[in-house]
Amino acid sequence: MTQTLTILGIESSCDDTAAAVVRGTDVLSSVVYGQTALHADFGGVVPEIAARAHAEKLDHAVEQAMAEAGIGFADLDAIAVTAGPGLIGGVLSGVMCAKGLAAAAGLPLIGVNHLAGHALTPRLTDQIPFPYLMLLVSGGHCQFLIVEAHDSYRRIGGTIDDAPGEAFDKTARILGLRQPGGPAVEAAAAQGDPNRFKLPRPLLNQPGCDMSFSGLKTAMLRARDGVIADRGGLTNQDQADLSAGFQAAVVDILTEKTRRALAEYLLLAPATRSFAIAGGVAANGPARSSLTALCAGLETDFFAPPLHLCTDNAAMIAYAGAARMQAGTVDDLTLSARPRWPLDDRAAPMLGSGKKGAKA
Ligand code: KG4
Ligand code: ZN
Repeated sequence: MTQTLTILGIESSCDDTAAAVVRGTDVLSSVVYGQTALHADFGGVVPEIAARAHAEKLDHAVEQAMAEAGIGFADLDAIAVTAGPGLIGGVLSGVMCAKGLAAAAGLPLIGVNHLAGHALTPRLTDQIPFPYLMLLVSGGHCQFLIVEAHDSYRRIGGTIDDAPGEAFDKTARILGLRQPGGPAVEAAAAQGDPNRFKLPRPLLNQPGCDMSFSGLKTAMLRARDGVIADRGGLTNQDQADLSAGFQAAVVDILTEKTRRALAEYLLLAPATRSFAIAGGVAANGPARSSLTALCAGLETDFFAPPLHLCTDNAAMIAYAGAARMQAGTVDDLTLSARPRWPLDDRAAPMLGSGKKGAKA
């Protein structure tokens, strides 16, 4: 029988400082301090600012997570922390904090791959059995993974350039919408006509399940400049129509490539017809609806974690840490932070991993 573990999770790999306590599959607390306002003037996450803010906030996040869970350190079985991939300063802040706590409390320390945290989230929320196909789609990553076990992943496709979340953020910037771009573009798109602007769907008709979003980003910029050249500026309706056109292109790409990835996956694992999404872009309503419909047509179960567990959080890190501990693998105080850490190191590196690098 496996023991129900109570784990404190810590996450600081990009621009969210998070701590959470998870017992089994119960999320006892999940605290996330975002940094959007700190980076707002810079058009992207500034690594040095992020690292400093993590260092300032981590203690508070941990204190709050423990208080909300209503437990003390003596009730914990271990401390799990994101050890990569991500912005190295932020990852280091989290790892140092976790080491200090683990040493002081005499608890085991577990380094977790941030991508594994996302990839295992459907097991935390829905207890789905292995294997399953996952589309991990966020601000720094976009990949199809066959999740075979907590420590075994096969990547069967992904973006060859930018990640969709990065494209959402860039689109918001060029349209004058707020950051993070995904929710802002989604809200604007709800009032827009997706057919007014003809935007490309790169690689859509190429075989395989690799994707590309950089041409779409460039096309958006041209479309916006075209409107400004014609009319001297953007109206709210222009913003809405451009947002709707962009979102429709992303949804078409994700849906069509998921159709192909599923076909490939089901050949390998016909008995477990399960597909799950995770990562910040998995919060997108139209993408969820389109993928839900696709899966229904293919008699495949579709799992989408609740929004607060799709975006970066520490509950997923605590849960992935518990999986490692159940398997008997823990780290010690020599744990180091890794800026790059692919889940499937048998797969060839992707051509590009977006401007945000290896974060997810
Ligand atoms: O996984 P995540 O929280 O952080 C990392 O990238 O690691 O994902 C954040 C990304 C951002 O690019 C954000 O714009 C995007 O997810 N995002 C969305 C939505 N909510 C967040 N993209 C599209 N639609 C959304 N509703
Ligand atoms: Zn992430």
